[in-house]
Amino acid sequence: MTMVFDYRADRDGKTPFDPPPRYEDLRDEHPVSQVTMWDGSKAWFITRQDDVRAALADERISADNRSPGFPLVSPGSEVLTESNPTFARMDGPEHARQRAMVNGDFTHKSMVQLQPQIQQIVDGLVDEMLTKSPPADLVAEFAEPLAAQVMCLILGIPYKGQDFFQRVASTIPNHYADQEKLDTASAELTQFIADVLDSEAKRPGDGVLSRLAEREGSGELTRDDIIGMARVMLVAGYGPTANATALGMAALFYHPAQLAALRDDPALIPGGIDELLRYLTNFHTGLPRVAISDTEIGGQRIRAGEAVLCYLPTANFDPEWFESPETFDLRRKNRGNVSFGYGLHRCLGQNLVRIQMKVTIETLNRRIPNLRLAIDRDQIPFRKDAAVYGVSELPVSW
Ligand code: HEM
Repeated sequence: MTMVFDYRADRDGKTPFDPPPRYEDLRDEHPVSQVTMWDGSKAWFITRQDDVRAALADERISADNRSPGFPLVSPGSEVLTESNPTFARMDGPEHARQRAMVNGDFTHKSMVQLQPQIQQIVDGLVDEMLTKSPPADLVAEFAEPLAAQVMCLILGIPYKGQDFFQRVASTIPNHYADQEKLDTASAELTQFIADVLDSEAKRPGDGVLSRLAEREGSGELTRDDIIGMARVMLVAGYGPTANATALGMAALFYHPAQLAALRDDPALIPGGIDELLRYLTNFHTGLPRVAISDTEIGGQRIRAGEAVLCYLPTANFDPEWFESPETFDLRRKNRGNVSFGYGLHRCLGQNLVRIQMKVTIETLNRRIPNLRLAIDRDQIPFRKDAAVYGVSELPVSW
């Protein structure tokens, strides 16, 4: 009998940041093994860092959910892409063509240029927190509005308040939400982007969406293409970044000596962000793929049509890559994690995430140097039901 894969599996390791021990056991004993998915289908479950990289770089393994045998990670997992195909679920030249249209907007250089505006957003949220008396919830009052406002800034779309993001961009990654709620959220997201595009046609603005809209005019993209691209950028950009920010702060509070070191020496921040990303691995569903020709990963033959799931949490805790992987160490030398994926589909937003996390940590350290948890660390409510691991609340005081 194969093991059932459920990404909501208990993380009953020593800390809530450790990958579920049963998947760590699989990595150590059967690094490429078959698991049963929630719908009874089978997938090759890939758990070692080398094998995850090999699978994500293998052209015989497809990211296109229209390829026969493509796995559904959970009941609602394709709600983001099913109505509007997007480059996140395309292969080869089709993927390269759309991705090239947005790569330039997310380079390190473009993100450095945006840093002053990101700083302004962070400062505004800190100002608001400081005008109230403690405690504050670092998720609802900081991490979520920050991620939402930064995505609106980059895409060049109006920030309609947090309600819209909560309703839509938080529901879509919640794959076990009821189908009606998912469909409503998906329809609302599409309508929102279509409305922005209509207003762009009348009064072009500045931002990724305006630049894509110009390509509709020149016939390079259809309206459906643009909506699909905007949907994936908004949803992939909002939830993971909000969760990484809050989970990152939770990890720092969980390790007070490391937080103190970071406060004493800001030069530790850039390397520390890589260690945070490794340690948190907030994409915990496994990256879904399917073999389109026979191939071999980690000595295991995988035949065309067989599903593959690349599981990042165990890869980021792989002892062949990281000494004492369960230790959170801001000074760690090896930073080669796969938190942003690997290969051609590697995360589009990684430069943005790094800059946003850097501004966040620097600003919180400088402006609220005595920021601390307002609850016991064992009471932090970890959220594992959605596709992105996180905390549902992070009460802080100062
Ligand atoms: C901490 C925050 C984030 C994490 C951990 C993260 C993680 C990932 C991962 C693991 C992938 C690879 C998916 C795969 O190979 O199937 C990915 C792809 C992607 N990410 Fe992120 N992401 C984050 C933030 C962002 C942001 C801010 C954006 C903003 C645009 C973004 C946009 C995308 C897009 C569009 C893709 C698909 C790329 C492609 O298929 O070519 N992500 N991300």
